[in-house]
Amino acid sequence: MGFLYRKFVRQLLFNLNPEVVHDAVIKTARAAQRVEFVNSMVRLLTKAKDFPLTVAGMKFHNPVGLAAGFDKNCEAARFLAGLGFGFLELGTVTLRPQPGNPKPRLFRLRDDHAIINRMGFNNAGAFDAARSLERLLPLPVPVGISVGKNADCSIEEAPKNYLETLKIMYDYGDYFAVNISSPNTLQLRSLHGAEKLKRLVEPMLDFASGQKKVKPFFVKIAPDLEDADLESAAALAVEKKFGLIATNTTVKRSSVPAYWQSYEGGLSGKPLRALSNAMLAKTAALVKGKVPLIGSGGIFDGATALEKLNLGADLVQIYSGLVYEGPFLVKEILEYLEKKHWQPRS
Ligand SMILES: Cc1cc2nc3c(=O)[nH]c(=O)nc-3n(C[C@H](O)[C@H](O)[C@H](O)COP(=O)(O)O)c2cc1C
Repeated sequence: MGFLYRKFVRQLLFNLNPEVVHDAVIKTARAAQRVEFVNSMVRLLTKAKDFPLTVAGMKFHNPVGLAAGFDKNCEAARFLAGLGFGFLELGTVTLRPQPGNPKPRLFRLRDDHAIINRMGFNNAGAFDAARSLERLLPLPVPVGISVGKNADCSIEEAPKNYLETLKIMYDYGDYFAVNISSPNTLQLRSLHGAEKLKRLVEPMLDFASGQKKVKPFFVKIAPDLEDADLESAAALAVEKKFGLIATNTTVKRSSVPAYWQSYEGGLSGKPLRALSNAMLAKTAALVKGKVPLIGSGGIFDGATALEKLNLGADLVQIYSGLVYEGPFLVKEILEYLEKKHWQPRS
């Protein structure tokens, strides 16, 4: 089935504007998920072996998740769950709606199996996302909600902005991903600094610990981090008991042709894989299994997913791979894990 996508559908879609295609995919998924027959058919076509595992107290059918940014407004989650994902990370959601950066802001690097995006957290805001999830929950897989800050909110005010978003979204997520690593919001990555990160996550963890159900947190880190920032983030994760997602997109262009140097934004897909894996390996060495890790960046098949699990990831996530390899990618990955007799650690 994946072959059919790669041979025919991708060819067709790649002749169209990337953002137009993405919006059409989300709209179609949104409509399709209302029809139970369609959901059942999709589930049937993507069915694969279960790999039951528990991470951060949550139960998963398998370790392959959807990365943040695909369903920014949390509107197509039921359809996406049907593609066989073990979990979905929705968002990134900001407190207030915002349009994101001017278009064009999404580019396919077809020869490199990569994407450059400078979307800039375009989303309909936390209240809209909460309303969408209100209609879609419960879902058959754990749902993470990625939270970020509004572009017009200063870095000093970021902790309050994130906390307000979290409060609106808290009832709707099984876990929360604190996104400090998008390269498309000015200065966002400065939140990796030890003091700033502590000031950001402490109020959110305090809020969660006061709730009836204490839910797990992950902080999503950049692949371009200096060692000192990675070390302090890992130390804080161990101290405060939150997981880490390694990694978001890169601002480096060393792994793609010179033509793309001038395209601002975050690079994802195959050229991100080595950098992201190096960061995951370093992170795993620092946290020594004390907190959960999610690996993201350059997964295109079973082998590249297994590579991250072997480097220390408890779970993995895909985005660009879905665009290039199509909706049967999760099934293909799970079949590969089965062939390799992969067993979850937990
Ligand atoms: C178009 C696009 C939009 C993205 N938006 C977000 C986002 O809103 N929040 C986030 O945490 N990551 C976002 N990402 C990063 C992905 O979640 C993922 O971490 C990254 O693309 C690396 O994985 P991949 O190589 O499988 O694409 C986005 C990626 C792409 C390609």
